[in-house]
Amino acid sequence: MESINIGLAGLGTVAQGFIEIFGQKKQALSDKLGMELKIVKVASRSQKVDLEGLGAVFSTDLSSLVEDSAIDVIIELIGGEQDALELISAALKQNKHVVTANKEVIAKHGNSFKGEIDSGQLRFEAAVAGAIPILQGIGVGMVANDFGSITGIVNGTSNYILSNMSREGASFEESLKQAQELGFAEADPGFDIDGIDAAHKLTIMMALAYGQPFSFDKVITEGISHITSSDIQYASEMGFAIKPLAVVRRSGDEIAAMVYPALVEFDRILSQVNGVMNAIEVESDYAGRLFFSGPGAGSLATASAVVSDLGLIARNQGSAYPRLMGMEKLRITYPDQSTSSCYLRFDVVDEKGIFARITSALSESGISIDEVFQKNLDGGRASIVMITHPASDKDIDNCLSNVGELSEILKPIQRIRVLS
Ligand SMILES: NC(=O)c1ccc[n+]([C@@H]2O[C@H](COP(=O)([O-])OP(=O)(O)OC[C@H]3O[C@@H](n4cnc5c(N)ncnc54)[C@H](OP(=O)(O)O)[C@@H]3O)[C@@H](O)[C@H]2O)c1
Repeated sequence: MESINIGLAGLGTVAQGFIEIFGQKKQALSDKLGMELKIVKVASRSQKVDLEGLGAVFSTDLSSLVEDSAIDVIIELIGGEQDALELISAALKQNKHVVTANKEVIAKHGNSFKGEIDSGQLRFEAAVAGAIPILQGIGVGMVANDFGSITGIVNGTSNYILSNMSREGASFEESLKQAQELGFAEADPGFDIDGIDAAHKLTIMMALAYGQPFSFDKVITEGISHITSSDIQYASEMGFAIKPLAVVRRSGDEIAAMVYPALVEFDRILSQVNGVMNAIEVESDYAGRLFFSGPGAGSLATASAVVSDLGLIARNQGSAYPRLMGMEKLRITYPDQSTSSCYLRFDVVDEKGIFARITSALSESGISIDEVFQKNLDGGRASIVMITHPASDKDIDNCLSNVGELSEILKPIQRIRVLS
């Protein structure tokens, strides 16, 4: 039986999951793949794990993995940007295969690796939606298809926070704190709640689904920290959940991608994906609408996707670089031409005629209202809450800047898109 020698970089959450799976299933995996798998070297900042049973050498020097001619595959699980970028790049130049879970490096630097790949393969299934085999799904399983849209909940932290706000009626701040206490959010949660992590993942899905270069800078990103528990309650009264979405849509020869919180009707499965779960809905021409869901993070769940990439390399399946680059001549644009219905909340002084003034200002700007109600609050205040009919972002922007001038409006107008 042939063998594959593995060099593992990192000994954190995912790497430990990988070692655990390896310890439990090494023989079964070797049998399934017809290839003996050996971890021969581990490099990390510190040796937090006993590697004796593994028979692997430990080093604090990442470049020792690249320099070791016995190593066939480097599994990069150190995270972060610069060191991981250098490691992946050096490994590919040495014709080693690379498996990584690093969405940031792939989304921001993926294009630069193309020229560095010769006989090595670069695989990154674990970088998007943890355990869910979405990249194999869209890149291989659905290769016959063109994609109309991909709509995902791919950041567990944001989904946990919005789900908790919905379930407990808790504020954004309380829910973030709870997520941090439970280990679902980092001490610095910016990447998650500002939509950056989801934008990395969306960049990767967009590149694979549409055969385009990685275009992280074209993804418009809106975070979730402006969503209030009142918005969640009002949306629920109108039949919607608020979900942290990552959406790429094709329209003719253009594709546009955006990460944003949106109202999702309760009868769509996406609205029922709660807590730290991830889900991705794919619309395609032949296979129709497919729905993938599962754990988007976690030690063993993420390591399961790492092992799957290793399996592909062992079987030598697929091209060196998953379906990428120049497959189609599409233009990646910004989604500023998009039209969608919007949820709007106006916090106002509850004066006679204000309801009519707001609704007529909208109507004069050509924005028509699908549903509207007024909630009277204490202290002579009220919230006027509505869902508009579909309108362009530009028309809504213009209208809201006019309406925002009304002296009775107390706070910035809340505006959340409705998923169409
Ligand atoms: N955790 C998840 O559920 C999950 C899910 C999907 C994808 N991912 C991705 O998987 C990757 C790994 O995540 P993780 O959660 O396992 O990270 P982690 O727990 O922070 O582990 C990182 C490991 O790499 C080591 N390390 C970091 N920088 C290093 C450097 N410059 N040189 C040598 N060693 C270095 C760390 O050592 P020390 O601890 O000794 O500093 C640690 O052992 C990241 O790209 C992440 O985005 C994670």
